[in-house]
Amino acid sequence: MKPVTVGVLGLGTVGGGTVNVLKRNAGEIARRAGREIVVTRASARDLNRTRICATDGITLTADPFEIVNDPDIDVVVELIGGYDLAKQLVLTAIANGKHVVTANKALIALHGNEIFAEASKKGVMVMFEAAVAGGIPIIKAIREGLAGNRIKWLAGIINGTGNFILTEMRDKGRDFADVLGEAQALGYAEADPTFDVEGIDAGHKLTILASIAFGIPLQFEKVFTEGITKITRLDVEYAEALGYRIKNLGIARKTEEGIELRVHPTLIPKRRLIANVDGVMNAVLVCGDAVGPTLYYGAGAGAEPTASAVVADLVDVVRAMTSDPENRVPHLAFQADAIADIPVLPVDEIKTAYYLRLTAEDKPGVLADVSRILAAHNISIEALIQKEPPQGETSVPIIMLTQLTLEKEMNAAIAAIEALTTVSGKVARIRLETLG
Ligand code: NDP
Ligand code: HSE
Repeated sequence: MKPVTVGVLGLGTVGGGTVNVLKRNAGEIARRAGREIVVTRASARDLNRTRICATDGITLTADPFEIVNDPDIDVVVELIGGYDLAKQLVLTAIANGKHVVTANKALIALHGNEIFAEASKKGVMVMFEAAVAGGIPIIKAIREGLAGNRIKWLAGIINGTGNFILTEMRDKGRDFADVLGEAQALGYAEADPTFDVEGIDAGHKLTILASIAFGIPLQFEKVFTEGITKITRLDVEYAEALGYRIKNLGIARKTEEGIELRVHPTLIPKRRLIANVDGVMNAVLVCGDAVGPTLYYGAGAGAEPTASAVVADLVDVVRAMTSDPENRVPHLAFQADAIADIPVLPVDEIKTAYYLRLTAEDKPGVLADVSRILAAHNISIEALIQKEPPQGETSVPIIMLTQLTLEKEMNAAIAAIEALTTVSGKVARIRLETLG
């Protein structure tokens, strides 16, 4: 049978890795797909740049529109990234009746609803396994493997760069900027690395996971995001001493009131497997009503781990190419006409426990004032540690763990504590989840 022809848009980290994996494993891939899969065209901005892949047999162009408009291309693989150009290219490919595979979570999180609607009209597939958690087949696991469950919640370390930074800072005492530079050199970081460190990339991925877990539209604008830039060594050490580890988690939970969608640094008990996921590795815990908690682990970024997911999508596309569109796995796991508009809770209405660190004068009555404020906002203290004042100082660090409370109550309590004349500076606050 004639090979399936692929046009790759972007020959950087993931594009180069994809070409390499497709070539190296061509025999195994053809045995699985039932047909050969061959990259015949690829695009990049700078055609003279040295690539991580060989490009013999591939016609290169600096104009990606040539590829999406080429009638000889069966499947377009979008690995450029970003919103606007990628969207135009993907929509053009779809309009031309081509199937699309992408690793672009920003594109899917922001424009996925429109893209899938266009793809359904044209009867083509848009696959995006590589968009979430790099090489971990988490989309397939939720969309297909857990299809019998009502998903209750999921929580994941879904940004490799951020996890790499937190791990290196904790284990080697390295400087934030230095580790970020290394993550960029290794090809892990986004073109704009603030996406990695401010929780935006994880927010894109959480948007996608929540949609396929709960059957809701993609709605990135409703995700609460907080980054890792404010985490101090001190908090990492105090958390460890209390039996917790700080990880940047994406959390989606279905409650009676609505759906929680949030990305933020989180204290999690050290004994949880996910607390020990380090470096660029990602892990996602998914809890279904039938199966209970399940955990998925693997490389969250990098050329070949991501290529592994891109190529798996290509194999799926080739296998399903000749099937009727209505018999294929729906893009967002649920049938398009069964997507439900379940409300997403504003962050103020989210309930979680907290780690608080404040600096207060070491004199009688101060702790009582703080406790009174917390009590007035219905916040119960779970644990409290008062450290010795540093040499020559009269202020002491106070560390508290609270029980579950509403975010808006905590915000009000923190404002009142910071207004006390006996408390100096800002109260450091990190949310805490037991993931039980
Ligand atoms: P790179 O920056 O390494 O590669 C991007 C490629 O697109 C390059 O070949 C670049 O050309 C080309 N390109 C960039 N801008 C344009 C433009 N305006 N017009 C035409 N071509 C352009 O990115 P990655 O491979 O790291 O990422 C690609 C996608 O995969 C992104 O959506 C990213 O979020 C996603 N992703 C990345 C992962 C990773 O580990 N890196 C993991 C999972 C997903 P040139 O090389 O000439 O500059
Ligand atoms: N920048 C992303 C990360 C790439 O570090 O997780 C993988 O999506």
